[in-house]
Amino acid sequence: MQIIRKVVPNNFNLFLCGDKHTGSILSHDDGWVQMVHMINSEVDGIKPRNNFVVDHGDMIEAIDVQDKRFDFTVTNIRQSQIFNQAQEAVLERQEIRKNLITILKGNHEHKVIRFGDMTAFVCERLNIQYGTFSAVIEYVDRNDNLLFKHYAHHGFGSIRSIAHPAKRRVTNKKISLMQKFDAKFGDCILNSMGHTHQLIICDPEPLLYLKTIAGTIDQGYTKPSKTTGYIEPNHRWVVNTGSFLKTFGLGFDGYGERAGYDPIELGFILVKVRDRKINKVEKVLFS
Ligand SMILES: [Fe+2]
Repeated sequence: MQIIRKVVPNNFNLFLCGDKHTGSILSHDDGWVQMVHMINSEVDGIKPRNNFVVDHGDMIEAIDVQDKRFDFTVTNIRQSQIFNQAQEAVLERQEIRKNLITILKGNHEHKVIRFGDMTAFVCERLNIQYGTFSAVIEYVDRNDNLLFKHYAHHGFGSIRSIAHPAKRRVTNKKISLMQKFDAKFGDCILNSMGHTHQLIICDPEPLLYLKTIAGTIDQGYTKPSKTTGYIEPNHRWVVNTGSFLKTFGLGFDGYGERAGYDPIELGFILVKVRDRKINKVEKVLFS
């Protein structure tokens, strides 16, 4: 757990990404290049210096030969050793070093913790604050006034539904994601996690309510306006940040294929903060 205070302008973009899994030939290197290029470009009127990034971990595959998931045919030979993967993770982030707010440790890095903390190593090399497995990020202005808080976790458990029809499956998955953050840091209006490799956005849900005004009955909608104290779960943004790891490849089989994982969208989440507030949260998919 870490608390990170980040000074930001009134308008900025937040790239919430993770699960690059460098070391596997199923890792979408071209997708990573696309994202790095986007971070170094003007996005929706925001200059590159105000494109901030939170990396949710599983930067590296970190599967050693004793792991039952190990498979030579899926291992990127150039990065066959776990330490090579960590070195590659440093290189992959050099061009976005100044944009990165933090990198979280994922379960893949944690599985090889007996060899040392690979995430701490990468953060140290890049001079980035190490987020550990989860971090509260407090976005503040130059005068130390809070804009909002963000709880970022590598992720845990699974998000599944076998309900019919598809609309119910999608909704069930969103509810499952929201529940994971329900009783965590209740003053964070933005909550994010990686790990499941799914791209999911739960926007705040305005609720209709009745009120009386000057002897008449009127109506209103609740809306996310609070930035301090407890924030009602319906008023929070909760996202699952996707991944760069393909499930299928021709001529071999990865552990995702063997485990029967369903297809997933490859990409990340883009949060647009305008006039100090979260204005829009959207998926970015790789072409
Ligand atoms: Fe992962």
